[in-house]
Amino acid sequence: MDSIIVTGNGPLSGQIPIAGAKNACLTLMPATLLSDEPLTLTNAPRLSDIRTMTTLLQSLGAEVQALNEGQVLALSSHALTSTRAEYDIVRKMRASILVLGPLLAKHGHAEVSLPGGCAIGARPVDLHLRALEAMGAELDLREGYVHAKAPAGGLKGGIVDFPLVSVGATENALMAATLAKGTTLIKNAAREPEIVDLARCLQKMGAQISGEGTSTIEVQGVETLGGATHRVVTDRIELGTYMLAPAIAGGEVECLGGTIELVQSFCETLDAAGISVEETPTGLKVSRKNGRVRAVDVTTEPFPGFPTDLQAQMMALLCTAEGTSVLEEKIFENRFMHAPELMRMGAQIDVHGGTAKVTGVDKLKGAPVMATDLRASVSLILAGLAAEGETVVNRVYHLDRGYEHVVRKLSGVGAKIERVRNE
Ligand code: EPU
Repeated sequence: MDSIIVTGNGPLSGQIPIAGAKNACLTLMPATLLSDEPLTLTNAPRLSDIRTMTTLLQSLGAEVQALNEGQVLALSSHALTSTRAEYDIVRKMRASILVLGPLLAKHGHAEVSLPGGCAIGARPVDLHLRALEAMGAELDLREGYVHAKAPAGGLKGGIVDFPLVSVGATENALMAATLAKGTTLIKNAAREPEIVDLARCLQKMGAQISGEGTSTIEVQGVETLGGATHRVVTDRIELGTYMLAPAIAGGEVECLGGTIELVQSFCETLDAAGISVEETPTGLKVSRKNGRVRAVDVTTEPFPGFPTDLQAQMMALLCTAEGTSVLEEKIFENRFMHAPELMRMGAQIDVHGGTAKVTGVDKLKGAPVMATDLRASVSLILAGLAAEGETVVNRVYHLDRGYEHVVRKLSGVGAKIERVRNE
């Protein structure tokens, strides 16, 4: 297993290119299952989660070719051989459940393993299932699998009214509704940029969708969908993560490809903390030139609120802020696993249920640390950028799920960071 070693090294300067969004790509890829025509995705990120989705789609008989060093994915589902997503793949990545809606809509039935537990919370899939039931699907849970069947003649348009906002359930509902007979209304839909990106791609394939980006999406089902070429939207979480690098270590970094609209509420929080963000023709320039960061309170919410996927990284910044910050995690019930690790670096954090109180200290100190999920791992790297001495982040495979070339990107702006292989 590899480790990453970071040594606090003073201000950063330069540019970091931001990749295409992991979470957009993970829902765009299964959209291939809705059509017999080719789907080409450009600006795809090179990540292990994308490889897992590739393996899953290939296990169903889809063709997935990674071209141009993995930045282009050429997908085709014209000769599908299976509608069963096996536990062995699904257990590795929860986003695997996103094949359920498209398989059911196109083939009338699907068998998908239930994903099981997760490090950041229970994360059930009941809302995905309810949405498909609202379109007439019959579902049976047995032997750890969802066995889903569409009515004779296929799924029917219906009203999907979510009791809480779910990104994945909205994506499954949206994909299924494109081929359902009649009109589907998705109420209390997620408004994340990844949903809008999925809708744009489906529209190119011939889907009739309106209201994407608002809480009510209307879909008029069509008979068949065609092929498309689509550029994956910029990864707003990778963007926010690297925006925090100069905020934590000092200096000025331009994140190439970033736009304010992707990270509006995050930018407002940075502003309150005393970090400057400027939109340039090529991206977002972030700088911290003088003084200590100010404490700010943060509450995670569905988009357009502050993203849960940036909470751990924001906490790393607030560990050395002047004053006490309160972070409230409202999306996942167990997403403070990074707090005890940050405390090993000298941070002062009190966690009670979904609330963490962070009292800023002058400086963090490097330590060996370990994380249980993707965003927690990167928060420890960020903390290490400004810590005194060496921080060794173990279990780097979590990082590989969501950040390509972390070492190259951060050393490119002057950070002292290396990846080592442990025998
Ligand atoms: N929920 C239910 N039932 C469901 C679905 C969700 O109770 O059927 C609950 C969840 O347990 C959670 C809340 O609803 O408490 C919101 O979960 P959501 O369904 O929105 O999350 P997701 O679709 O499983 C995506 C991202 C996550 C990101 C969340 C929230 C992908 C592949 N994953 O997950 O990304 O944190 O939305 O924005 O899109 C990450 O990239 O590190 C990551 C965890």
